[in-house]
Amino acid sequence: MNIAIAIDGPAGAGKSTIAKLAAKELSFIYVDTGALYRAIGLCAYRNNIGSKDVPQILKMLEDIRVELAFNDKGEQIVLLNGEDVSSLIRTPEISMYASDVSAIPEVRAFLLDLQRNMAKTNNIIMDGRDIGTVVLPNAKVKIFLTASAEVRAKRRFDELIEKGMDVKYEDVLKDVETRDYNDSHRETAPLKPAEDSVIVDTSGLDLQQSVQKLISIMKENM
Ligand code: DC
Repeated sequence: MNIAIAIDGPAGAGKSTIAKLAAKELSFIYVDTGALYRAIGLCAYRNNIGSKDVPQILKMLEDIRVELAFNDKGEQIVLLNGEDVSSLIRTPEISMYASDVSAIPEVRAFLLDLQRNMAKTNNIIMDGRDIGTVVLPNAKVKIFLTASAEVRAKRRFDELIEKGMDVKYEDVLKDVETRDYNDSHRETAPLKPAEDSVIVDTSGLDLQQSVQKLISIMKENM
C-alpha cells in the first residue's frame, strides 16, 4: 500500500518549498497540484478566453491534455498538449487565472483522476487546496500549512524579485488576499482544513524549522 501525505493551505504558505524538501528526506514523490490549475489557466489566457468565461473554458477542456511528468533531476514538470509549460505558469497573471478557473467544478473534475492516479502508484506528498478534503480523503497524514497574509506576500514578493520580475509588495499582498478570498469562498472544494488535519502556522518559523516541524509530524503519524 502506498503512503499519501496531503498538504493544503493558502497561497504562499511555503507548501511547495517545504513539501519538496520533506519529500526528498523521506524519498517520496512530490506533486504540486497547483501547476495543473495553472496549466489550464495558461491555456485560457493564451486563447484569449476570460478567466471567468465558463462556457468557453468548458469548450476548451474538450480539446486539451494536461499531464504531469518528472525530468531527469526528479523535478515535476507540467505538460499542456505535450508542451512543457512549467516555467510559463509562474507569473502573477497566471496565478489569478488559475485561481479563477479552479472555481469551476468541471475543471476540478477534469483534474481529479490524474491526481488520484499519481497517489495509486507512488508514495507521495501532494500539495494543493483540497487534497486532504477531496482528492485524497484517506491520506495517512494531513497537514494544513498557513501563515499570515503579510508574511506570505513578503515571501512571494522576494521570490518574484529574485526571478527578476518588476513587482510591488502592495500588489503582491493584494493578489494574495484576493486569491485567499476566492480559494476559500468558492462552492466546490473550497480551501479549508480537513477535520483530521494538523494545522501548522509558519509565520514565525524559518524554512529549516518549518521542514523539521513537518517531517516530525509526518513521522509521528505514518
Ligand atoms: O498552489 P498554487 O498557488 O500554484 O495554485 C494556483 C491556484 O490553483 C490557486 O489559487 C488555487 C488553485 N488550486 C486549487 O484550487 N486546488 C488545488 N489542489 C491546487 C491549486
